[in-house]
Amino acid sequence: MKILGIETSCDETAAAVIEVQSSRFEVRSNIVSSQVAIHRRFGGIVPEVAARNHIKNILPVIDEAIKTAKINPVRNYISNGVKSAVLDLISVNTEPGLITSLIVGVETAKALAFSFNKPIVGVNHLSAHLSAVFLNNQRIIFPAVGLVVSGGHTQLVYMKNQYSSRVIGQTLDDAAGECFDKAAKILKLGYPGGPVISKMAKTGNPAAFKLPRPMLNKSASGRIDFSFSGLKTAVLYLVKDKKFSQRQIKDICASLEQAVIDVLIFKTIKAAEKFGVKTIILAGGVAANQKLRQQLAETVKNKLKKVDFQTPAIKFCTDNAAMTAVAGYFKFKKQGADDLYKIKARTD
Ligand code: KG4
Ligand code: ZN
Repeated sequence: MKILGIETSCDETAAAVIEVQSSRFEVRSNIVSSQVAIHRRFGGIVPEVAARNHIKNILPVIDEAIKTAKINPVRNYISNGVKSAVLDLISVNTEPGLITSLIVGVETAKALAFSFNKPIVGVNHLSAHLSAVFLNNQRIIFPAVGLVVSGGHTQLVYMKNQYSSRVIGQTLDDAAGECFDKAAKILKLGYPGGPVISKMAKTGNPAAFKLPRPMLNKSASGRIDFSFSGLKTAVLYLVKDKKFSQRQIKDICASLEQAVIDVLIFKTIKAAEKFGVKTIILAGGVAANQKLRQQLAETVKNKLKKVDFQTPAIKFCTDNAAMTAVAGYFKFKKQGADDLYKIKARTD
C-alpha cells in the first residue's frame, strides 16, 4: 500500500510517500520545505506569512515527493502519480496547528482526493508524531507511554495500542519547545530556539545556574501535567539588565536545557510506573535533542529494566509528512476512509 502524506500545520510544507508491506514501513520520499529563514527575522512564526508560503510551496513539494518516490516516472508527477493506481491513500494533517496553514494542506489534499477519486483520511499532528516511531520497523510492545514534545505541545499519552490512545497529562501553559524558543529570544540567539540552545549547551555547564524544575511533584486530578512558563520567566529575570560573557550564555543554555530535560524525564518515568507500560516512546521536534534522547534512554534502562525505549530517527522527530502517512495508514486500517466533504482543518 502506498500513501501520500501532507503536512502544513506550522511553518514546514511537507509531503511524503510511504509504502507499507507486511507491516513494514518504507519511506519512498520525504520532502520538507522549511520557512525558518523567512520567519527568523520576525523572531517567530507569522501565521499569515506562513500560510502564503504554504500556498506557494504546496504543489511543488507534493510534486517532488511523488517524483522522488518514483511511483510514476512520467511528468506531470502529481496528476500521473495520484491518478494512477499505485497511490492508495492520501493522509493529511487536520489538527492541531495554525488554522490558515492547516487549511492549505487540507484543501489541497481534498482537491487531489476529489479529482483522482482516492480515499483520504485526516489525522492529528500529535498522533502522527508518535506514529513516526513505526518507521524504525522495530516491534513495539504495548501498552506504551508516549511523550510528545513540540513547539506547541507537551503531552503524555497512554497508548493501549497503535489504534487507541488517550492523553494523561499535558502542559498547562507553554510547551517545552516554546520554552526553548522564547528563552532563545530573550538571550538573542535567534529562532528556532531548541537547536541553537542545544548547540550552545554542548560546551556549557548545566549546573552553573540554578533554574526551577516546575511542577515536579504537583499534578491536578491524578494527571501528570507540566508547566514551562515559569522556567522561561526565570531565564528572563536571570538575564534582565545584565551583561553576560559568551561562556556564561553557554552555561545558561546548558542549565535551561537540563531543567527542561529533568522535568520531562521525571514525569515520563512517573507515568510509565503509574500505568505499568512496556514501552516508552519519545517523539516531536524537541525529541531531536540529543541529550534528552540519551538521558531518557539511560534513565529507562537504569530505573525501568523491563521497559523498552523507542524514539524515531531525528529527521522524523521534527515536522515531516512521513509521520502523517503512517498515522493515516493506522486510521484507515481501523476505520476506513473519512468522508471527503466532512474533513476540515481545526486548531485543536
Ligand atoms: O514538532 P515540531 O517540529 O513542530 C511543532 O509541531 O511545533 O517542533 C518544533 C520545536 C521547536 O520549538 C524547536 O525549537 C524544537 O522543536 N526543537 C528542538 C530541537 N530541534 C527542534 N528543541 C531542542 N533541541 C533540539 N535539537
Ligand atoms: Zn510537530
